[in-house]
Amino acid sequence: MRLLTFKAARSAVAGALSAGLLSAIVFLAARAGGFFSAHTVARGASSPFEVGPIVVVSAVIVLAAVLVRLALGHWLVQPGRARAVFLRSSALVLLVSFASPFLGVTGAGTVEVLSLCLVHVVTAIAAVAAAEWAARPDWRFGEEQYETRSIEPRTALVSGATSGIGAQVAQELSRRGFRVIGIGRSPQKARALGAAVPGLKLLTGDIGSIPDAARLAAEANALVGPEGFGVVVHCAGTLKPTSGPNGDGVDSNFATSFLGRVALTRELRLAPGGRLVNVAAAERGALPSMMRMELRTPTDIGSGMRSHGQAQLANDLWTAQLARSGVAAFGYGPGSVDTEIRRELPMLLTVLMKPIFAVDTRSPRAAALDIVRIVLDRALPDRGFASRYGVFQHDPFILDATRQEALLRLCDTLLDRARAGAA
Ligand SMILES: NC(=O)c1ccc[n+]([C@@H]2O[C@H](COP(=O)([O-])OP(=O)(O)OC[C@H]3O[C@@H](n4cnc5c(N)ncnc54)[C@H](OP(=O)(O)O)[C@@H]3O)[C@@H](O)[C@H]2O)c1
Repeated sequence: MRLLTFKAARSAVAGALSAGLLSAIVFLAARAGGFFSAHTVARGASSPFEVGPIVVVSAVIVLAAVLVRLALGHWLVQPGRARAVFLRSSALVLLVSFASPFLGVTGAGTVEVLSLCLVHVVTAIAAVAAAEWAARPDWRFGEEQYETRSIEPRTALVSGATSGIGAQVAQELSRRGFRVIGIGRSPQKARALGAAVPGLKLLTGDIGSIPDAARLAAEANALVGPEGFGVVVHCAGTLKPTSGPNGDGVDSNFATSFLGRVALTRELRLAPGGRLVNVAAAERGALPSMMRMELRTPTDIGSGMRSHGQAQLANDLWTAQLARSGVAAFGYGPGSVDTEIRRELPMLLTVLMKPIFAVDTRSPRAAALDIVRIVLDRALPDRGFASRYGVFQHDPFILDATRQEALLRLCDTLLDRARAGAA
């Protein structure tokens, strides 16, 4: 693989120009304020600070950072770890660099020193951003050429079809000749999408409510008829930072993002050999230690961000259990996707997160193309796990049959309780 691609070179040049420009602005603003006098010189230099050398040094630092980041990714450490090593090293270099305005400048006042520190910060931000954009992989899993398998019947159900990844999956499958029935929460969005995509039929309700999930399944079965669904894709989900029990007594994140999918699927008419894709979060086999939580009793579910994480974990365990029991089930981790899933997080947090995650974030259509490939590519296995990086072997924690069966017992308990409450 080539170290310096056109994309990497473009990021490096853009980063170097930005760093030079921002450093120049900081320096010139400080000088316009009268802080850089002829008496302020770098130690060992004979003349005072000038904008030219500052711009050049900033730009060179960015170019060097991009090369180091690319080298880390290509040769020195595993690609997955390259970012962590690079970010930690960059933070260290930045901290150490703060010593130079304090120690390496003679005749400087506090504002001059702070201005030079600010030049270091803007250069470091531009360097890290340029380096990460330069090293950003081309996730082409869903866009590669592949031979399609024949799927009969050509019918699909997509949960979470009114926005984000699910809306794109519903449209892509419709475009490929599938008769698609989508499920979503918002009637307005359903009307708008139904009007825009010919042949796409949308049902609305609360998938997290067990009685509503049963109603939605019955309506979908009636619409599809006796042939059933050749494809089911689950994208319904929420990310509520503070969640609580819903009308069935189940945490609402867990109910919408996981239990409702189970309730719906159990009632759906899946055609023999029908394929199911379950969208969750894991992108690679190695599960982080914070995700290794047990899910045996209702209290293990928790609430808020914990129940959101538990729903992702539960989806992977459920997918693995379905696959083990013979269903053509695939788990898919989309990575960061630009959708409305974070709509209930505090606005400030969302705004702050956006630039940090931008380098890793893809469009919902890119994620949908991956899912369509999982469904249609005849060369891929019938079951397993995939992400934008392709198919992966999941962590033994997820493949553990005892853990999967414990989750199924928990599902039965929660579903029985909900039905008893509704009766
Ligand atoms: N986006 C990411 O970065 C990311 C990363 C990892 C995993 N995921 C997972 O991918 C899945 C899809 O996420 P997304 O990013 O496409 O999110 P999204 O744009 O918010 O879409 C979620 C979908 O679920 C539907 N939905 C929510 N609550 C529902 C309920 N109670 N009943 C029925 N439908 C409901 C929404 O309907 P309305 O639009 O009508 O409300 C929408 O169609 C989620 O499970 C999410 O956890 C996403």
